[in-house]
Amino acid sequence: MNWEKKILCIGAGYVGGPTMSVIADRCPQYKVTVVDINADRIAAWNSAQLPIYEPGLEQVVERARGRNLFFSTDIDAGIAEANIIFVSVNTPTKTFGHGAGYASDLQYLEKTARHILAVSEEPKIVVEKSTLPVRTAEAMQRILDSNDKGIHFEILSNPEFLAEGTAINDLENPDRVLIGASETPEGQAALQEVIDIYANWVPRDRILTTNVWSSELSKLTANAFLAQRVSSINAVSAICEATGANVDEVAFAIGQDSRIGPKFLKASVGFGGSCFKKDILNLVYLCRHFNLPEAAEYWEWVVRMNEWQKHRFTKRILTTMFNSIAGKRIAVFGFAFKADTGDTRETPALTVVRDLLDEHALPVITDPQAIPEAKNDLADVLDLVEFTEDPYESVKGAHAIVICTEWQHFKELDYQKIYDSMEKPAFIFDGRNILDHQKLYEIGFEVTPVGKAGYSRL
Ligand code: NAD
Ligand code: UGA
Repeated sequence: MNWEKKILCIGAGYVGGPTMSVIADRCPQYKVTVVDINADRIAAWNSAQLPIYEPGLEQVVERARGRNLFFSTDIDAGIAEANIIFVSVNTPTKTFGHGAGYASDLQYLEKTARHILAVSEEPKIVVEKSTLPVRTAEAMQRILDSNDKGIHFEILSNPEFLAEGTAINDLENPDRVLIGASETPEGQAALQEVIDIYANWVPRDRILTTNVWSSELSKLTANAFLAQRVSSINAVSAICEATGANVDEVAFAIGQDSRIGPKFLKASVGFGGSCFKKDILNLVYLCRHFNLPEAAEYWEWVVRMNEWQKHRFTKRILTTMFNSIAGKRIAVFGFAFKADTGDTRETPALTVVRDLLDEHALPVITDPQAIPEAKNDLADVLDLVEFTEDPYESVKGAHAIVICTEWQHFKELDYQKIYDSMEKPAFIFDGRNILDHQKLYEIGFEVTPVGKAGYSRL
């Protein structure tokens, strides 16, 4: 087959898998290969049971897999034949040494660069898809230039803005695609190659181009702004609880101002996910590195506010339930960090469950997708926690329900039936404000939402 381009993605995770599946689906003229060092993950991508849960993903993969989309562990072969290599490996927060707790751990990225260097026999375009600190491309360039084969590698930045749970729609209809390239003729030629990929389905005016550093920084900044909005509204939720204002009404009122806009103003038990905290802490590290302590402190507060909100939520559970939850069965509805994903990285539910365990409560976790991940996250306390996919099972004999994830499924349950099987008084703590609180109160529940007055007979 005469492929127009041979595209490789190194890293078959939450970003690499869906992103490449959509490219392959939209561009049958390209060969798209996704490789990973994790053989189990690759085997899952090649099976009927994909390694991640993402609405719409299965259909996209089924259309393209085996046609022009391939998942493989043969990284050498993938590198050797590719013209364009996307690097989508994980870039977690460093847990050791200089910058621990803030800086990005770039070891996986560097290994990938060295692997590309070792195997390549001809020029390649290397695209940073992972989220990276500003000027990482410079380090990549230095590593890749250190070859005596006379091969030129052109490094581009093309950060990913998809959100989990809506990844396929985000990839098929992105607000924008951002590509950073150097201003040299080689950089501009490589830029055009990557633009050509997206132009197969993304309107040209949504494909933005910048220099490499702006692209890298825009990704960190976008996540920082989004997380900042959640922390802002969560700070307001605390003021609402103290004053009798209603956070949903306040969010609606301010969101009507077109300069503010209505999105990302949902008060919650706190934000989670693999990236918000990591990317903000990375930004904090960069600010400190460039001797900008005030800017560092400003952004760090977004994360601190979030930590406070999570613990504040569990503290409210404790005080509302007469300051004693030891020995009480508590159903935790949702463990994923948001709805429509099985991902639990940095999930606020983990903080809540650990806080409940500190108080010697007996948590029972129910989630339609994330039970295996929850068991992993709580491996050290498995004997103290129960897990079930059936919410009705989880509430039997429970004193309280704690909503941590906004699954649609939880809105559609029979709360009268649930109430009947619980201990009384039966409490609901709605960490996502998704239920009809008035109706729950009429059934008999004691209801505590986030950022507004609860319903109580006590
Ligand atoms: P992930 O952990 O799900 O996937 C990364 C994959 O890279 C893993 O499967 C790992 O085995 C593989 N890998 C690591 N080193 C490798 C190597 N040397 N060779 C081959 N494979 C290797 O991570 P993710 O959630 O897909 O995130 C990847 C990057 O994208 C991160 O920088 C993240 O910040 C960014 N990002 C993530 C999201 C998201 O929603 N998860 C969205 C936008 C951007
Ligand atoms: C986020 C960004 O939205 C993506 O653009 C980005 O690509 C991605 O991070 C990344 O870099 O990894 P994601 O973390 O998948 O995507 O999900 P979000 O929808 O942003 O939600 C993050 C967290 O904030 C969730 O826990 C969610 O429940 C919470 N949230 C979100 C709120 O509590 N309130 C809101 O109003 C919005």
